[in-house]
Amino acid sequence: MPWPVLLRFALVLHTILAYPRVSSAVLYQGLSELPSNIPFDFIIAGGGTAGSVVANRLSEVSRYQVLLVEAGPSDEGVLDIQVPGLLSNLQRGPYDWNYTTVPQENLNGRTVPYPRGRVLGGTSSINYMFYSRGPAGDWDRWASVTGDQGWSWQNIEPYFKKSERWANTIPSIHSFDGNVQVSLPAYPQTVDNRTLAAAEELGGIFAFNLDNNRGDPLGTSWNQVTITGDGKRSNSARAYLADDYLQRDNLHVLLNTQVIRVLPTTKRSPTSISLQTLEVISALDNANDAGRTLLTATKEVILSLGTIGSAQTLMNSGIGDREELAAIGIEPLVNLPSVGKNLTDHPLAYITWRANSTDTLDAVAQSPELQAAALQQWLANGTGPFASAGGMNHLAWIRIPDDAPIWENYTDPSSSKTSPHIELAIMNNAGFSGLSNGNYFTIAISIPAPLSRGTITLSSANTLSTPLVDPKLLSNSYDSQVILQSVRYAQQLAGTEAFKGYLLDPVAPLGADAIDDDNAVLSVLKEVAATTWHPVGTLSMSSRDACYGVVNPDLRVKGVTGLRVVDASIMPYIPAAHTQGPVYAIAERASDLIKATWADGIASTSRR
Ligand SMILES: Cc1cc2nc3c(=O)[nH]c(=O)nc-3n(C[C@H](O)[C@H](O)[C@H](O)COP(=O)(O)OP(=O)(O)OC[C@H]3O[C@@H](n4cnc5c(N)ncnc54)[C@H](O)[C@@H]3O)c2cc1C
Ligand SMILES: *[C@@H]1O[C@H](CO)[C@@H](O)[C@H](O)[C@H]1NC(C)=O
Ligand SMILES: *[C@@H]1O[C@H](CO)[C@@H](O)[C@H](O)[C@H]1NC(C)=O
Ligand SMILES: *[C@@H]1O[C@H](CO)[C@@H](O)[C@H](O)[C@H]1NC(C)=O
Ligand SMILES: *[C@@H]1O[C@H](CO)[C@@H](O)[C@H](O)[C@H]1NC(C)=O
Ligand SMILES: *[C@@H]1O[C@H](CO)[C@@H](O)[C@H](O)[C@H]1NC(C)=O
Ligand SMILES: *[C@@H]1O[C@H](CO)[C@@H](O)[C@H](O)[C@H]1NC(C)=O
Repeated sequence: MPWPVLLRFALVLHTILAYPRVSSAVLYQGLSELPSNIPFDFIIAGGGTAGSVVANRLSEVSRYQVLLVEAGPSDEGVLDIQVPGLLSNLQRGPYDWNYTTVPQENLNGRTVPYPRGRVLGGTSSINYMFYSRGPAGDWDRWASVTGDQGWSWQNIEPYFKKSERWANTIPSIHSFDGNVQVSLPAYPQTVDNRTLAAAEELGGIFAFNLDNNRGDPLGTSWNQVTITGDGKRSNSARAYLADDYLQRDNLHVLLNTQVIRVLPTTKRSPTSISLQTLEVISALDNANDAGRTLLTATKEVILSLGTIGSAQTLMNSGIGDREELAAIGIEPLVNLPSVGKNLTDHPLAYITWRANSTDTLDAVAQSPELQAAALQQWLANGTGPFASAGGMNHLAWIRIPDDAPIWENYTDPSSSKTSPHIELAIMNNAGFSGLSNGNYFTIAISIPAPLSRGTITLSSANTLSTPLVDPKLLSNSYDSQVILQSVRYAQQLAGTEAFKGYLLDPVAPLGADAIDDDNAVLSVLKEVAATTWHPVGTLSMSSRDACYGVVNPDLRVKGVTGLRVVDASIMPYIPAAHTQGPVYAIAERASDLIKATWADGIASTSRR
């Protein structure tokens, strides 16, 4: 939605007045500021969700010199990032890589925007802040496919606790002393009570679940969000790279610097190639010297550039499918055909009804005056409509029953009996429909265990060219069939006594005349389906002896030394969860794995 010029001006003023930038000596603004005399033990490429965690944890060891390299600027003092209610300003804004998918065959050839954060904190600086851990069975499946029990729910749960600082009262499975602040929705919605009443009325697969983050997410629950007790986004940068941490004199953060590729550090031998050198380039517009610089780590390089960036960087380096790389003129270095494959994402759809009420969040979206007031209130005390992540206070994670007709044609892709097939998010407004006058109620639909798989590929040998992002959304008919089922479940929720007299006709993407026709739903889906922006899996973990996969269970890249990947790309299956929580847990465990490797000062050997 267009943001009024006046309000923009007010925002800028507030940014300057309320959040003066503090200059900090350890944030190097560009390559020219980086001291040349420090021997870095570890270099982490990408200061995003995962990279910020790893930089923090490794620099806890005072004898390690740690360098974090990020393409974007600092997130500090950026109001659009701090205020949850301003998140819509972030897509296609200055902190977005602005990716777009290639035309999606099963979306009638449409392309869809594919935002990724390009700023300290990465995508955690621009996301919707939902916090979820996924079902226990998903983690146990990772443990079984990788052959490493360290990834099981039982062993990963402590890492969730390590990363999390709960802002509200109790539930025993949460922790109060981690880094990322997690809270319950702070801004009540007028539909909250109806949603809870509907869950009670329906029971069964909709039954109320007090806490969906204890390994069993099924049912209707309050949404948990990475928002501080005083209404601010808690992103990876504020949680792990706050000033207290930046005061460590062994932690160095280099901003505005883009990583191009990794290079062999010692002469190649048939048995071992050590990749501990990064080729980087200034990302500053006004950089006088755009020349390429080499940065070498004495112990390890860790790639945390995200599902797109880490895959692109490995392929730029000649690591990938040998034939595919050679075909575009890149000299193959290590043949790992899985690089860039198995890209998996959660597809998104919705249904919007007209609401018989004037008290929905649409009012704020439609009124510059109410937006200005909401911002004032947030600035005064961090409360009000802008303290909320899109006004989505409840989620329902639904498991399609074992005897449902859909299983006649498809094998259940979920990991366990406590894993959902469907996610419904309750929105007290027009949601993704784009309707811009009137009052609405929306149920957003997402498919937690989809079967479609896509790719990230390079468009050319030019290391600065934009990679091709092809999630192949809805390419497996199971995904469309489950969305169709989701529409029916959403109608069931909306058809309860609890919503009687409140919900009028469905209006988007189908009206009452068409919504009950399965073929109409399937065909309209192609016009509206999009993504929840959860791409994972392009550099998947696999067991040490697997004939596919890119990294071993300890996240070291297969066939080379000195190089690990720590971000969403290593997930072997997409979790039935919003992906930032799992990324935090991965990064916490990875940090411990790296520390354990170097505990004696020399790398402990890893079998291959
Ligand atoms: C709009 C949107 C909404 C979302 N909502 C939610 C949500 O509500 N809940 C949830 O759990 N998840 C959500 N997600 C997904 C979640 O945020 C991501 O899965 C997660 O943050 C990914 O973490 P990462 O560490 O893998 O990558 P990132 O956080 O993207 O980190 C990668 C970092 O590397 C940097 N980088 C990339 N390439 C280079 C390069 N060549 N040189 C130097 N630096 C580079 C990037 O700038 C970035 O800082 C959302 C995502 C989007 C886009
Ligand atoms: C993304 O687009 C916005 C708006 O045009 C722009 O400000 C920003 O610089 C772009 N990002 C990149 C990485 O080019
Ligand atoms: C919701 O229900 C609770 C408990 O019955 C009640 O105290 C509260 O006022 C209700 N809120 C709204 C917005 O109706
Ligand atoms: C994709 O993942 C599956 C496991 O889910 C695996 O069997 C297959 O080999 C992978 N494909 C590639 C190209 O890595
Ligand atoms: C926050 O400020 C608003 C006015 O801007 C006020 O109405 C509200 O009561 C305040 N809330 C708290 C918790 O102080
Ligand atoms: C299963 O597939 C067959 C053949 O395409 C189709 O006729 C049938 O309706 C499908 N069953 C369900 C429950 O979708
Ligand atoms: C709208 O709500 C009012 C009460 O708030 C009720 O009287 C009226 O019948 C409702 N309209 C419809 C069409 O349900």
